[in-house]
Amino acid sequence: MSSSSHSERASLADALSSGISAISQAASTSELRSVMATLTGKKGAVAAVKSQLGRLDNIEERKALGVLVNEAVAALESAAESKFRELKRAEFSTQISAEKVDMTELALSAQASQRRGRMHLVTQATERLEDVFVGLGFQIAEGPEVETDFYNFEALNMPPSHPARSMWDTLFIESDVEGSVVLRTHTSPVQIRVMQEWPPPIYAVMPGRVFRKETPDATHMPVFHQIEGLVIDRGITFADLAGTIESFTKAFFGDGFTSRLRPSYFPFTEPSAEFDIRRPDGSWIELGGCGMVHPHVLRAGGLDPEEWSGFAFGFGIDRMAKERHGVNDLRDMYSDDIRFTEQFS
Ligand code: DAH
Repeated sequence: MSSSSHSERASLADALSSGISAISQAASTSELRSVMATLTGKKGAVAAVKSQLGRLDNIEERKALGVLVNEAVAALESAAESKFRELKRAEFSTQISAEKVDMTELALSAQASQRRGRMHLVTQATERLEDVFVGLGFQIAEGPEVETDFYNFEALNMPPSHPARSMWDTLFIESDVEGSVVLRTHTSPVQIRVMQEWPPPIYAVMPGRVFRKETPDATHMPVFHQIEGLVIDRGITFADLAGTIESFTKAFFGDGFTSRLRPSYFPFTEPSAEFDIRRPDGSWIELGGCGMVHPHVLRAGGLDPEEWSGFAFGFGIDRMAKERHGVNDLRDMYSDDIRFTEQFS
């Protein structure tokens, strides 16, 4: 083994142990985020070792060191993950005790007269989203929560027994024709209703409640909220979609945030993508789906695909509010405990 490989191994081991100790010393989740950004960033110690890899001329040594680098990164990430959970828990309970209400009768009656109500986190988020989209030139539309199979699936390019229907665990309403009435599983059916009712061009967002056959846990609820976007005009391209997502990202999250699109599949768009938001510290939030409106969907909305084109997008509001406020468990958001709501104004 050459001396150069030895020295790389040594500096990797150093980077790893000083990284682990920096992680364990982080005093808050935001400090931990910046520690990780420094460690695994372009200028970090791991990246420095990585950049030396190419200089080793023995292929076996290069491979072996490559494996060690990957292991070091994985070790740092898993240390950071458990530290993050620990800090988050601590921060949450500090918050809760800081906001604790004295539940004695006297204190309650004295405070009740002064206490102000708060809007639910999801309501707050929805209103901010609406403000931002109105600022970008969008109108707001709403549709029914009890939908027909036609709007929820068929008009969205999912004929009966289309396999993509299983992407949504559907709750059904009793009706004469079994399976023809559902609780909408997403806000996408409102796209069709808007296309049928509004003459194009259309620039609309459609927030609302959606329902899925889901057991509640920390990240899932059977009832949650989405916001749908629809743009229909002449000559709309994928570049308009990407640009709109990016403008929205900056307007809603702030200038330090950017967005990216990843190829994906939805029956109602072609091509389809998922979009993620990049935080200033380099971490990513997976937000939602989007794509160019499928010609079958335009036709179901009564529009001629030769004349009109457009894009659509949709994402969950609850998860976004959860991310934004560092809520650990979605179920807390629906606990109806005023001490929870009062923490967020
Ligand atoms: N309706 C999709 C869902 O609930 C989200 C979605 C994906 C909406 C792509 C769209 C879109 O408008 O173009 O999973």
